[in-house]
Amino acid sequence: MLRAAGSCTDEPRPWGPGRATNPSAYATLVQDDRVHSAVYTDPAIFADELSRIFETCWIFVGHDSEIPNPGDFRTRTIGRQPVLFVRGRDGAVRVLMNRCTHRGALVCVEERGAAARFTCPYHGWTYLNTGELIGVPYAERYDDSMAKEDFGLRPAPRVADYRGFTFASLAAHGPSLDEFLGPLAKAEIDIAIDVSPVGRIGVAAGVHKYGYNGNWKLQSENSVDAYHLNALHQSFLDIVRDQMGVDGRAMGTGTSPAVIRSLGNGHVAWDTAPLGMELQFIGSDAAPADWREAYKQQLVERHGPEHARYLWARSAPQVLIFPNLVLISSQIRMIRPIAVDRTEVHLMPVLLEGVPEELNQQRLRGHEAFYGPSGGGATDDMEIFERQTEGFRATVDPWVYLGRGFGRETGRPDGSTAGQMTDELGSRAFLAQWKKMMTAA
Ligand code: FES
Ligand SMILES: [Fe+2]
Repeated sequence: MLRAAGSCTDEPRPWGPGRATNPSAYATLVQDDRVHSAVYTDPAIFADELSRIFETCWIFVGHDSEIPNPGDFRTRTIGRQPVLFVRGRDGAVRVLMNRCTHRGALVCVEERGAAARFTCPYHGWTYLNTGELIGVPYAERYDDSMAKEDFGLRPAPRVADYRGFTFASLAAHGPSLDEFLGPLAKAEIDIAIDVSPVGRIGVAAGVHKYGYNGNWKLQSENSVDAYHLNALHQSFLDIVRDQMGVDGRAMGTGTSPAVIRSLGNGHVAWDTAPLGMELQFIGSDAAPADWREAYKQQLVERHGPEHARYLWARSAPQVLIFPNLVLISSQIRMIRPIAVDRTEVHLMPVLLEGVPEELNQQRLRGHEAFYGPSGGGATDDMEIFERQTEGFRATVDPWVYLGRGFGRETGRPDGSTAGQMTDELGSRAFLAQWKKMMTAA
């Protein structure tokens, strides 16, 4: 039976001033089928998240196709910590803290570019793109205890790559990236790459950004919430139906055969293959008519007939990699926590190598239509995140109810847990990992 979230109003409040320093209190905030809204609004919890989650987890930093040549760089963040994602003159990809080892200023404020060296504007210390300190103005006033070799840009403690996706961890110890992703999340990343007939993708089409006045987790959870599609995005779906004759509602109904899966470690994916929508998300409508069969044949040759059929049935991943990376349709999405009530989202369209140019153009236009500044979809989501944040101010009943499909999940032989597409399994799995990390010793 559906229990209203209001049924909790008589219970003692598990949250209040001064509780944030006690990690065990977090256990009461995330329950099996509900979460306390303080998790989205309390600045002390946000501060704890930065250290317990963003400075502990593997965080996606960039894709190697963004920095193909020596000197290419992007400035990125791990939580709120600034880093340089850079290919050094030796060809190696590094993640370096974007902090001058003299007195701490950013050494680079450009979002992207190519540089042989980075010169800090404050006193002029200069670093190679490998991080090595090579220039200190008027060095004669330092004594011998100041050795330049000791003052290179500090590398992130751990950096690892999965098929061109670079992740970094600010924790020197912990599970490897391989363990953290696990085979199921890696299989979702594989889809993003393997739908290219040559097995390569390019993330060089640029970045577009949006921001909202709300907590970062609202976007993480929303990315794998299918329950909202037909309600919140109704106007977009109406336009698609009227202009293209395609009814997109089937995926997000309570009887949809599509599936949501918890992959472990807080990672969550949709499996839309049961919808039977061949090549739906790949952008192939714009490709020449005879291309589809040739493409399918290429996939069969690379992956065998069974997996090729799965790839063109999926045609794109839709996966949340805990805590803030999403691969969805033709984009990589990085969710950046700015403040407890401020979030930036960076979206990078993914282009496929080995396909007709028209197809990649179609991917970009489709991306813009839903996610772009004048698009019809992402704007709905941002609006609702801000309405949630306003709504959370009402604390007579502070609970957020996530009980849809609770207790009806099924285990799968691969170790995942699956529910019907519109189940709130995604939020429950994401928040279970949040609780695990926030309460860890
Ligand atoms: S802070 Fe960078 S040179 Fe002084
Ligand atoms: Fe949405």
